[in-house]
Amino acid sequence: MGTQLNMKTVRTIAELRSSINYDKRVGFVPTMGNLHAGHLDLISTAKKQSEFVVASIFVNRLQFAPHEDFDSYPRTLNEDTKKLEAAGCDLLFAPREEDLYPVPQGFEVHPPSELDCILEGEFRPGFFKGVCTVVHKLFNCVQPDVAFFGIKDYQQAMIITHMVSQMALPIEIVKVQTRREVDGLAMSSRNGYLKDAERAEAVQLYLALCQMRESVKAGNNVSSVEHEALSLLKARGWKPDYLTIRNALDLSVFNPNEKNGSRRLVALAAARIGNTRLIDNLEFTLD
Ligand code: PAF
Repeated sequence: MGTQLNMKTVRTIAELRSSINYDKRVGFVPTMGNLHAGHLDLISTAKKQSEFVVASIFVNRLQFAPHEDFDSYPRTLNEDTKKLEAAGCDLLFAPREEDLYPVPQGFEVHPPSELDCILEGEFRPGFFKGVCTVVHKLFNCVQPDVAFFGIKDYQQAMIITHMVSQMALPIEIVKVQTRREVDGLAMSSRNGYLKDAERAEAVQLYLALCQMRESVKAGNNVSSVEHEALSLLKARGWKPDYLTIRNALDLSVFNPNEKNGSRRLVALAAARIGNTRLIDNLEFTLD
């Protein structure tokens, strides 16, 4: 006999709250759906570190700019529900827009500019305000003990950790490693947009990060390493937004001459191949 599957799906905040077993340690995995193995890693980590796992699926309009892919973002609730149930999720919160935003969301959470206006925030203004607003609201709805975020969205996971700390939310944030395809491409719902030739090329973003890591570890000048990576991708037909090496702790610019500076770094990249914008990152330590 296999394990009994009995995940419940709820739409409203009231149903959600009455369905959560608060006697147990509640783990929460917020998603926008179109689930892949990376999301299921979040669920399996949540199962190990909590006793009642809630996932949410909500494509959050607030974090998309008008020219971005809110309308075309893949919505695959039936398939996602089956995957979550098979992964052992206990409860799925899949609110409609009117459930989560019954009135226009006038109150918002603005991250501080030193985190909000760099990297992703520079190229997607308003993105982190939208993310923080919905995540804060989802946290209020679910009231979890612990929540799980993938570090593929490195800056997002960092900003949410800061938000929870500064707002004194009683929630532990657990960051989960990036799941990669066999060739190294980071799993992402947006990989589904790639045409065959683009998919074959897409791994070059990860390879560029690996190359940057090795080059910086070998002692090469950071600006030259970044510049070279940018030029290489451009020559292959990419439109890069950034390829950069930052301090892993706070995403500040890495200064190799700084005495007592952290040796923990992260190479981060965002670039467009065809019409698809991909992001990835790689953490490493200088010897
Ligand atoms: O990473 C995502 O899927 C989204 O940004 C999140 C955290 C679910 C908020 O909408």
